[in-house]
Amino acid sequence: MSSKKYNIRTAGKANIPVLGLGTWQSTGQDCVDVVSQGLKMGYEHIDTAQAYGNEKEVGKGIKESGVARDKFFLTTKIFPDDLKFQPEKLMAAAKRSLEDLDTDYVDLLLLHWPDDRVPLSETIPALCELQKQGLTRHIGVSNFNIANLTEAEKYADVPIVVNQVEFHPFIKQHTLQTFLNNHHILLEAYSPLARGDVFDNEIIKNIAEKHGITPAQVSLAWILSDKDRVAIPKTSNPDHLQGNLDAIDIQLSADELEQIGSLARSDGRKIEHPDYTPEWDD
Ligand SMILES: NC(=O)c1ccc[n+]([C@@H]2O[C@H](COP(=O)([O-])OP(=O)(O)OC[C@H]3O[C@@H](n4cnc5c(N)ncnc54)[C@H](OP(=O)(O)O)[C@@H]3O)[C@@H](O)[C@H]2O)c1
Repeated sequence: MSSKKYNIRTAGKANIPVLGLGTWQSTGQDCVDVVSQGLKMGYEHIDTAQAYGNEKEVGKGIKESGVARDKFFLTTKIFPDDLKFQPEKLMAAAKRSLEDLDTDYVDLLLLHWPDDRVPLSETIPALCELQKQGLTRHIGVSNFNIANLTEAEKYADVPIVVNQVEFHPFIKQHTLQTFLNNHHILLEAYSPLARGDVFDNEIIKNIAEKHGITPAQVSLAWILSDKDRVAIPKTSNPDHLQGNLDAIDIQLSADELEQIGSLARSDGRKIEHPDYTPEWDD
């Protein structure tokens, strides 16, 4: 993968483009179009998941873009419904994703949520095996707390390169981020615009106005100001695609970064998944 525009963040042997296109709730032809336009525009990182029900559309968007498979970073996630984290089911699920995405490999395969019905001593070696067999270049997890990660690392014989978690200016995650930094795991920020809440915040709006940029760009630039993070904002709107991508190049001052950092609250979380939510670290 090569890029003039993109910054890359590295964990293990994974080189991950700092800003990816999130696709949750991108469906049908809109999803095909936004993935295709995004790749043609210069996005080098796409995030999908089996649970989004759009892997086929993401695959079509990739084909339609004409961008070669080795020019961008593709992530998908396996959701733990139907006990899919049992080793033989995990293999079948990964193969189905590749079929739907119409690709021979993904760059990153994530366990979407922790699932205490299947021990990580079984799931993690199976996930590592998927990497060894070439179905994925790298492995990672999502929505794992420190206890889940500590357990997962015991059974991994290849690096866990990412923990994809909710992260934006209104959520703390300080304890988790310190753990991830110490373990050379990147924090991949999902809902990096707090699903739109950043647009109404006075501090963020003032900083945006001062720079002549959008609140979305302020939030993304703040997240990416830390070299241990990547972010995956979602848009289905072609007008938002370029602006979000341009956030890669925006630098905020130390004082502005601190002002945004002061917005974090312990109750700032937006996402919960009743069946799988672990006890979050702050
Ligand atoms: N691992 C997990 O459990 C998990 C959970 C949630 C999300 N994710 C991933 O993270 C991605 C992003 O998170 P998210 O979708 O929850 O929230 P988000 O990216 O924080 O916010 C998306 C919302 O912001 C709007 N938006 C995007 N760019 C904008 C802009 N420049 N100006 C105005 N509005 C803008 C989008 O609307 P438009 O489409 O109209 O632009 C959409 O309504 C998801 O798509 C998914 O890939 C992962």
